[in-house]
Parts: sequence; C-alpha cells; structure tokens
Amino acid sequence: MPQTPQQIETTPITTDRIVIVGAGLAALYAALHLAPRPVLMISPDPLGEGASSAWAQGGVAAAMRDPDSPDSHSSDTLAAGAGTVDAAVAARVTREARDHILDLTRLGTPFDRDKNGGYVLSREAAHSYARVVRVKGDQAGAEIMRALIAEVAATPSVQVLEGVLASGLETTGSSVSGKTVTGVWVEPAAGGKAPVLINAPAVLLAGGGSGGLYKLTTNPPRIRGQVIGMAARAGAMIADAEFVQFHPTAIDMGEDPAPLATEALRGEGAVLVNADGHRFMTDVHPDAELAPRDVVARAIYAETQAGRKPALDTRQAIGAAIKTQFLAVAEACARAGLDPEVHTIPVAAAAHYHMGGIAVNAEGRASLQNLWVCGEASSTGLHGANRLASNGLLEALVYGRICARDIANAVPDAMGSARVELTFTGTGTYPDPQAVEALRACMTQNVGVLRDATGLEKALHQIASLEATHAPCPSFTNMTATATLITAAALMRQESRGAHCRLDFPETKGDTGQRSRLTLTEALKLRQRYE
Ligand code: SIN
Repeated sequence: MPQTPQQIETTPITTDRIVIVGAGLAALYAALHLAPRPVLMISPDPLGEGASSAWAQGGVAAAMRDPDSPDSHSSDTLAAGAGTVDAAVAARVTREARDHILDLTRLGTPFDRDKNGGYVLSREAAHSYARVVRVKGDQAGAEIMRALIAEVAATPSVQVLEGVLASGLETTGSSVSGKTVTGVWVEPAAGGKAPVLINAPAVLLAGGGSGGLYKLTTNPPRIRGQVIGMAARAGAMIADAEFVQFHPTAIDMGEDPAPLATEALRGEGAVLVNADGHRFMTDVHPDAELAPRDVVARAIYAETQAGRKPALDTRQAIGAAIKTQFLAVAEACARAGLDPEVHTIPVAAAAHYHMGGIAVNAEGRASLQNLWVCGEASSTGLHGANRLASNGLLEALVYGRICARDIANAVPDAMGSARVELTFTGTGTYPDPQAVEALRACMTQNVGVLRDATGLEKALHQIASLEATHAPCPSFTNMTATATLITAAALMRQESRGAHCRLDFPETKGDTGQRSRLTLTEALKLRQRYE
C-alpha cells in the first residue's frame, strides 16, 4: 500500500513548529501546555466544529471529594474494562483527574456548582459514586471546548491551519532499523488539490477515533478513523483495535450522526422501556439501566433486533427539567417532533468510542520515533475492553499534558518560528462518498455490537474490494486501514470480552486478558485470505 500520495508535485515546507494533527480537546489542551513552544495545529474544520469532544455530553470523571477517591475511580475503571485495563495507567489517570478539573476551571470552564460552590457531580453507569463533573447538564464538551478555544486564540505561539486535513505521515528508516516520523502530508479538507509535505521536528496526533466508520454512530462526520489509519500506514503499532464501544442510547430518529441521549439521564433515574412498556434492563442486570455500557448496549440491540422499539423514558424521573438541564437532548427531540415530557425517546446502540488506537507508552510516545499520540486516537491501556463513562475526556486531558511535557523535553526549543504559509496547487483526490457509505454499512452490519467469524471474514473481503475498486485516495485508504485493523483484531480475538461480543465465542477466557497488538502489515496479511 503506498505510504504517501502519488501526485507529489509540490515543494515540501519545513517548520520548527511542533505539528499537532487535530483540534479537539486533547489537541487544544496539548497546544496550551506546550506554550510558548511554537505549535502548528492542523484542523480540518473551523475550530470547535467537527471534533467529537465538543459533542461530549456527560462530562469529565474525577474523584473530587470524600468519600470518593482516585482508588475507587481506578477500581471502577478496571472493573468496567473487563480484565484488560493497564492498572498503572488507571491509577495515574484517576490520581491526576482532580488537578485537571481545577486547571479547566482556571481556564474558564463554567462547571455546574451547588449552593456552597462545590462541583455538581452526575452519576453514570458503573461508577460507584456520582463523580462526573458537568456543565449546564449536558453541555460539558461544548463548554470546555469554548473555554480552550478562547485560550488558544489568546496564545500567540499556536498557529491554527483551518480547513486543512492531514492524510499521511512521512518517515525515514525501515521497519527493521526503526522508523522516524519526519513530517505530515496535508491537503485541503475540501479535497481536490495535491497534498503538501510539512517537515517538522515532532508530530502529535490528536485527531480522534473511528466511530464514524460505522453507519450508526454518535461521532461527527469527520471522525472516520483517518488518524489511526495514517499512523498504521506509516508502520505504527496499533493496540486493542477490536474494542469499539457502542453507546446504548443514541436517539433513533433517522439523523446521521445520531444525537446522543447522555447516560446522565439514566443517572437521574430515567428508565429504558420497550414497545410493551416493559422495563427490560431489570431482567438483564442487577444495576438495570446503570449496568456497564456494553451490557446495556447489547440489551438495547436485542430489543431493536426483536422489533420491540427500545426507548428512554425520562418523564417521571426528570420531567420538564429536561428542557433546561439537558439542552442538547431536548433540542434533538424537538427536531424529531418529540416532547420528552410527553413521549419516550426512541434509542439504538451506536458506535461511540474506540478504546483501541495507536499504541502509546507512559509518555504518550507511539512505536515510531518523533510521534506522540493523545486522545481517542491513542490506546493508552486506560479503557480496556469497555471504557467507563466520562473517562474519555479525562484521558484526553491527562495524556494531552503528558505528551506536551515529553515533547518539550525531547525536542530542542525553536522559539520564534515563522508562521507556516501553505499554497495548494495541482490535482488531488477526495474519498468517493458512495465508497465511504458502503464501508460504513459494512462495519455496522458485520463488525458491530454482535460479531462472528462469518461476518468478520465477509467484512474483510468487502473492505479489500472497496479499496481495490475505488481510485486511490489517501484519506479513504486511511479509513480502510482502520476498518481492516478493527475487523482483523476482532476476528483474531476468539472470545467475548467487554464491548467485543463474539456469537461464536460467547465465553470470556479468564478474568484477565491480553491486550491485542497488531500492525497494518499483519492485518493485511490476514485480510488477503478473504480477498
Ligand atoms: C454520555 O454522556 O452518555 C457519554 C459520555 C461518555 O461517552 O463518556
């Protein structure tokens, strides 16, 4: 598979700036923690648009006060992760959580406070305590992003290139001697122009996960596994690719992406019912609606498949307050002509978060030299097979700062670097929308909530054939690379664990399991058998 685009006619640009790919929470936070080191952020959309972080409703999990503790938070993270969480990572992240909430507060995030000034804490599934710090009910992601974007705008060391998409990594060395990342290929996000190579001293990937590779997803349209795919194509090790989290309560109203009905609603007492009015989660798990997310997602999926139309009933527990305390949910309902004070909210399980990603060590370093990764694109070992709710933004914060500090130590300072000016010329490519839709349908159908060998093998065949029959396009090849990795890892894991549920291997093999590690070369080798 070609590592870099074919139509190379443009002159490379060289910068001393640290290049950050992505513009979500992890990217912005890392840029701020790198300041005053000069940074170049590559953002496909105007800042604040297109990033998953801005859509996060629940908030940030953190043990803020007694009787809660980082130890309890860490234990819950380990339990939810179904035997594959790295305990040292969980201990560190949960220990640092409070400090990051105080940092975000200092940066202007208006967290909800009680009358004594304490943080209002929401309850979410599989947490032993109410410990999710929130903003205006379900506005945490949007409000944290607003505060960070304002701070970035006031930080002269950060240059943001909006409307620009990263599509490849440039490397030197070989897989035997070890590869070093030397730059990033970028192109206009709107497509159509030849890519330009930016040579840089270090690259931090913070460009999100892969939920949008699925037809039914809560992720923004921009998030289709491109960053993981780009790193994999350059030779980076990928970990836990098979572990994709499906959110149980995406609002099933025909919108793509599907709006989220935050788990915090269930934390406030909302219940799940089917078309017969039966509260089915009480049959499934002692914690009913607050069972681990994978358990609830499978129960919702089963109700949907059986035609029993699962729905979230907020009427009794929340009533009219949904319209003032859960604005994003209330607005989505209004678009669908639903009044949640009167109606139940139809829900479906939708791809929401990728626990897997580019394998990183304790400093956020990938397996390639000069490459760091944070946020959902990374796999730190925190989430295991099933992420604990609201640990995603937390991980982005913790590793955003870890990466910034490590890069600052590792890369010589280049204060006062010139701004990067890009001119795109020539002819480029853009993913064929029909091919993207076919890929998404294939993933939802064959690599979704329930999996088996037949479906996974079929998916590998279809992904290979989509790749072969569509004009080469680096951005699309990044998507198919990630889809291949998810599917191959799912085929190789012959057990069910957390969010990875194999109909043909329903048992979990032991309380603790091995994290998976896979290169794209290995995944492609497996795929070849089914082409
Ligand atoms: C939610 O609010 O339900 C989603 C939070 C998360 O995915 O962490």
